[in-house]
Amino acid sequence: MDTSSARKAWNDRYSASDYAWTIKVNQFVERHLADLEPGEAIDLGTGEGRNAVWLAQKGWKVTAVDFSSVGLEKGRQLAQDHNVTVDFVEADATTWQPDGTVDLVLLSYLQLDPVGRATVLSNAKTWLRPGGTLFVIAHDQTNVADGHGGPPSTEVCYSVEETVAALDGMGISVAEVVDRVVATDAGDQVALDTLVIATQP
Ligand SMILES: C[S@@+](CC[C@H](N)C(=O)[O-])C[C@H]1O[C@@H](n2cnc3c(N)ncnc32)[C@H](O)[C@@H]1O
Repeated sequence: MDTSSARKAWNDRYSASDYAWTIKVNQFVERHLADLEPGEAIDLGTGEGRNAVWLAQKGWKVTAVDFSSVGLEKGRQLAQDHNVTVDFVEADATTWQPDGTVDLVLLSYLQLDPVGRATVLSNAKTWLRPGGTLFVIAHDQTNVADGHGGPPSTEVCYSVEETVAALDGMGISVAEVVDRVVATDAGDQVALDTLVIATQP
């Protein structure tokens, strides 16, 4: 799917419901980043802004990027509802560049094709200050056959091995496939996510 079709699909998806996902911060983001000293952060592919708003509540200065104007508008509303400021930017995650370096780059379910994944991971490395954190949580390739929900194609899914390889030169503190329990009408289901946390030397 080309970028403009993908953008339209996401805008349609976000227009169709109140909030397409939960407005609660991702459980792995909360678990691993709650105690990180706040600084400047980029949330790439922010969607409706749940993680960006949580980071802002924690004291982070957040730039939240997405190509969906509808998602961003909902993010702005979420930030306003929580009395926090987030700089929401409408842009393609694969070509956008920040003005300067930051302390945290978050990629939360930014499911891109292999070229897109390689591009954002390689860009994100250059955006981090020494000691900065790159946090990747995404639908894992094994989720397509063995897990709940997520994209139906492995093409846009991550693997731990590929993600770690793309972050060559960074210190890797977490690199694993994690279970995420999803409550459904048919009971709890398990989704399989790639989780990689890396530090800029
Ligand atoms: C599954 S949602 C995740 C949203 C959010 N990070 C979260 O965890 O709730 C994926 C988001 O990536 C965005 N996205 C996908 N491809 C993009 C691209 N090339 N540039 C910018 N945003 C993109 C979509 O618009 C969508 O908001």
